[in-house]
Amino acid sequence: MRIILLGAPGAGKGTQAQVMMDKFGIPQISTGDMLRAAIKAGTPLGLEAKKVMDAGQLVSDDIIIGLVKERVAQPDCEQGFLLDGFPRTIPQADAMKDAGVVIDYVVEIDVPDEEIVKRMGGRRVHPGSGRTYHIIYNPPQVEGKDDVTGDNLVIREDDHEDTVRKRLGIYHDQTKPLVGYYGAEAEAGNTKYLKFDGTQTVEAVSSELLSALS
Ligand code: AP5
Repeated sequence: MRIILLGAPGAGKGTQAQVMMDKFGIPQISTGDMLRAAIKAGTPLGLEAKKVMDAGQLVSDDIIIGLVKERVAQPDCEQGFLLDGFPRTIPQADAMKDAGVVIDYVVEIDVPDEEIVKRMGGRRVHPGSGRTYHIIYNPPQVEGKDDVTGDNLVIREDDHEDTVRKRLGIYHDQTKPLVGYYGAEAEAGNTKYLKFDGTQTVEAVSSELLSALS
């Protein structure tokens, strides 16, 4: 099962990825989490990525393509994987196609921009695992603490409203064209395209998603 999760920043890709990983036993490959880990480790890539990410812009295609190629070649990806946040541009999608990676499902989670701006102020994340919560819509069992480790949850630096709006602009310019790209791939029989209304509750989206994929 090789799946791409497509959707605007804050549409709920990471949230649904957690549910799908548990259900299908495949790893989540989140390019955002990989970049945040590089920042935390203080690697040269992390130092370069931090400025770009904090400004709400995209890291260069070359860097991201290299990271993902290396990751999908790992043994835990043999039975499939869940791509969360990749591809994000047409050149990234082309690079994956040129490398012969076949995608079984492209899953789009659709949420209007204003709803996303409202959501992001309440997001809390566990930096170690990438687990995501929301103070109202998807709260942790204990306020401010990760359900699994009990570690403190944090607010992401790029979740301030002005940066969220910039990220949404970039999504419409550079990532939204992938909807047409994968729509055409589905018509050609190269993949299956599924679209979900991401304004429903987390549980309702998960349930529709899992029944469509099972
Ligand atoms: P990345 O980490 O990928 O961020 P993103 O795509 O902007 O996605 P998010 O993690 O913000 O949102 P999400 O859809 O996962 O939503 P979530 O489930 O958390 O990328 C960060 C940066 O890294 C980029 O800006 C870029 O600089 C760089 N980067 C990464 N990949 C790259 C690439 N391929 N190329 C170039 N640069 C790249 O949900 C959001 C909130 O809403 C949570 O609080 C959640 O609890 C809540 N929520 C979820 N579902 C619902 C629901 N149904 N109802 C109510 N609340 C909900």
